[in-house]
Amino acid sequence: MMEYRLNLNAKDLKEDEPVKADINGKVFSVFLHAGKIHVLDGICTHEGGPLYDGSIDRNELICPWHSGAYDVDTGKASENTPWVTDITAYPTKIDGATGEISIEI
Ligand code: FES
Repeated sequence: MMEYRLNLNAKDLKEDEPVKADINGKVFSVFLHAGKIHVLDGICTHEGGPLYDGSIDRNELICPWHSGAYDVDTGKASENTPWVTDITAYPTKIDGATGEISIEI
């Protein structure tokens, strides 16, 4: 596992509004939910929809293309949307002073 710093700041995130981050060309969906920052894979497992443009419904990240649903904490695909498979939810660290977000990959 390596630790990487994301190119966005925790202080700029708004509750339940995913944004895009990338590290060396790999794309992530980053969002604040219930006061906690979540970093998940940014590309949907179905047809490659942009999960960083998705929405949050209760405890799920919803793909904007065909509504595939993923658990915000684990990345597990919902049984209700069997056309998607699990994605990764990354361990996340926030620097309380600067708002820098780091993840382990
Ligand atoms: S591309 Fe995400 S559900 Fe189809």
